[in-house]
Amino acid sequence: MSETILLVGGGGREHAIARAVASDCTLYACASNRNPGIIALADGFASIDETDTDALVDFAKRVGATLAIVGPESGLQAGVADALDAAGIYTFGPQAEEARIETDKAFQRQFMRENNIPGCPVFETFDDIEAACDYIDDSDIDLAVKPAGLTGGKGVKVIGDQVDKEGAKAYIRSENYERIVLEERFVGEEFTVQAFVADGDLRTTPAVQDHKRAYEGDEGPNTGGMGSYSHTGFELPFMTSADYEAAVEIMEATVAALPAYKGILYGQFMLTSDGPKVIEFNARFGDPEAMNTLPVLETPFIDVLTAARDGENLPELEFSGEATVCKYAVPAGYPTDPDSGAKIAVDEESVGDGLLFYASVDERDDGLYTTTSRSFAVVGLGETIAAAETVAENALAAAGDGLRIRHDIGKATLVQSRIDHMAELRGE
Ligand code: AMP
Ligand code: GLY
Repeated sequence: MSETILLVGGGGREHAIARAVASDCTLYACASNRNPGIIALADGFASIDETDTDALVDFAKRVGATLAIVGPESGLQAGVADALDAAGIYTFGPQAEEARIETDKAFQRQFMRENNIPGCPVFETFDDIEAACDYIDDSDIDLAVKPAGLTGGKGVKVIGDQVDKEGAKAYIRSENYERIVLEERFVGEEFTVQAFVADGDLRTTPAVQDHKRAYEGDEGPNTGGMGSYSHTGFELPFMTSADYEAAVEIMEATVAALPAYKGILYGQFMLTSDGPKVIEFNARFGDPEAMNTLPVLETPFIDVLTAARDGENLPELEFSGEATVCKYAVPAGYPTDPDSGAKIAVDEESVGDGLLFYASVDERDDGLYTTTSRSFAVVGLGETIAAAETVAENALAAAGDGLRIRHDIGKATLVQSRIDHMAELRGE
């Protein structure tokens, strides 16, 4: 049977999803912004907010969708998967209850503690800001300060890294968050493992390292992710295969404790001298990490989706074995004061051997405009990270004026500094 897929979301991640399924199905897409990359691949597009469950269900029924994929966490939190599932349209993405693994960081930590999931930090949750401030004062270890709700990856402050104790207290007093998680700060190297999950089955993909800080050399505020790289195998150059396996075991334990989970489970880990620890789980592909992973996935994504829906074992995944480097071009001032509504130029002819993924841009009659988030990404594939980086860097010729890029991502010096950092922590 030929499938009709509804894709919800208009970012770089969803452009990568669209690219991975478009040739194997009839594709309809919905998002609040008009992403020209998705629109070009889709058979139809509707401007619908990613959280507007009723409108999404109506559209899905109208186009005869047989499957749906929800890209962004905002839609999962709003119950888009619940509503589409209830309308008989199997949705690859968890229902709101299971999505709490991402959308509620207090739940996420309590869930880990109750189910003895390895890699959980020492933590406490607070509804009372002054009690949280007292805990910070009394703590003799560095803490990560996390709002419990969604903040687009920008709400966490780490004591001893971005702030001191006074700065952390001033931050939570000024922001008025309803609930705060305070947890042990992990020191190490971060990596992401994304897995396809359905009916307790889990299929993992190569580890990716994202770069959250806005500026080169890991300076500046946290962003949604400025770019990322992956290696030719499953682990990154600073990891061993045992590190990767330890992360997979944590994800398996998580899925075993959440039997109704379906969709992508994204594990964000800190590789410490004591092995991988969980920074967070997300209930969807990473952005940018989806753009590293889907281009090297050789198993048709549609086969994973139909197996999940039909209650079959998920297929074993095949990958091309290429390294990847992804670099985002973001509006000036992103993330603190992004220059949204600026007209930008993207020259598709200049991407060369790279892949171009449009992200949070809006296509209007007279051209392409920025929004408050990342504008577009380029991805290079190659036999080595260095070769992939060169392809990505050349593809950035597509970027017109007014955009900012972290050119250091995937370059040999930065990758080597990760290897050196891990070796130092491990006392090698
Ligand atoms: P999150 O939104 O949970 O991904 O956190 C954003 C960033 O804060 C992460 O990518 C880490 O760099 C940092 N972070 C979060 N939790 C911790 C932790 N327990 N220890 C050290 N860094 C952390
Ligand atoms: N790259 C971080 C995220 O998708 O949350």
